[in-house]
Amino acid sequence: MRTVIAGTGFYVPDRVVTNEELTRYMDTSDEWIVERSGIRERRWVDEGMSGADMARRASLMALEEAGLEPGAVEAIVLATLSPDHFFPGTGVFLQKELGLPGIPALDVRTQCTGFLYGMSVADAWIRTGQHKTVLLVGVEIHSTGLDLTTRGRDISVLFGDGAGAVVLTADDDGERGILSTHLHADGRYAEVLWAEFASSKHHPRITRELMDEGRHYPRMQGKEVFKHAIVRMPEAVQEALTANGLTVADLDLLIPHQANLRITQMVQRRLGLSEDQVVSNIDRYGNTTAATIPIALAESVRGGRLERGNLLCLVAFGSGFTWGSALVRW
Ligand code: COA
Repeated sequence: MRTVIAGTGFYVPDRVVTNEELTRYMDTSDEWIVERSGIRERRWVDEGMSGADMARRASLMALEEAGLEPGAVEAIVLATLSPDHFFPGTGVFLQKELGLPGIPALDVRTQCTGFLYGMSVADAWIRTGQHKTVLLVGVEIHSTGLDLTTRGRDISVLFGDGAGAVVLTADDDGERGILSTHLHADGRYAEVLWAEFASSKHHPRITRELMDEGRHYPRMQGKEVFKHAIVRMPEAVQEALTANGLTVADLDLLIPHQANLRITQMVQRRLGLSEDQVVSNIDRYGNTTAATIPIALAESVRGGRLERGNLLCLVAFGSGFTWGSALVRW
């Protein structure tokens, strides 16, 4: 029994925010952003749009592609670092929107690697026969939590909003499906990319003074993240290939987490892949964290970049640090 990706879907907000627009809020330039990150524009939600709304739209697209009604979903796994509320998780709000009371809804909190952690759990549920059909979603609203002053420019230019979803189903044809998943984390680097406040370690969890200092905004040591990402991502790809007795020469398509075009290019070169074997859409969406891989996957399917029998690798690295990979026979 294998887990197959039966449908893919995505949703990004209508509002396009160009680099030029960001220059109105902070001291930055289109040239700096494009040169350092490859990002030209990103999407931001309009007031009132929730992560659950975006997740629902991406999920319905994935269900349609799979030829399934929402009622076929037996479990929801939702990855996000920007939940609609401190609790409960966005998964149950998505469940409510889809009208699926009673089934389990699990939120995953492993940031940029969240989609792959979620995939690993869903794959295990399906292979062990616990659930036949699992809806797996990555969704992020960054725009409401960014420091849009010059103080926050190193981070705020990188992130965008969006959602991506896949429907995972059980299949016994023996060829297709998820071959393996490989997960890692190293909490020694937890504070290299994080949002310190609001924090339940403190009473109150946030104060006006802390907010004035911008301590509720994400903070990042960019160079440190970069340095680790370009080592861990190729390593995780190799790990997945080796585990299946395969090599880079067998790989048809790599979908890396979209953190930064320069990271993607380094990963591509280190693995010896050609540019057209590696998916990149960061120019249009920026970094949508848990949503980058499923959005890029859904676009790859629609763009005809995957054919039955292709070997696909998904790989991510991010806050935690967390990283991982999944190998899929399409
Ligand atoms: N616009 C203009 N200048 C900016 C800027 C912006 N948006 N953000 C930072 N700068 C400035 C800095 O203040 C610094 O100025 P200084 O030299 O006068 O101090 C200068 O640009 C260089 O900053 P630095 O941090 O050294 O740049 P960098 O080459 O390391 O690039 C990143 C910054 C963030 C693009 C890069 O470190 C990176 O891509 N890191 C990985 C980030 C990532 O992928 N995170 C998500 C992981 S999931």
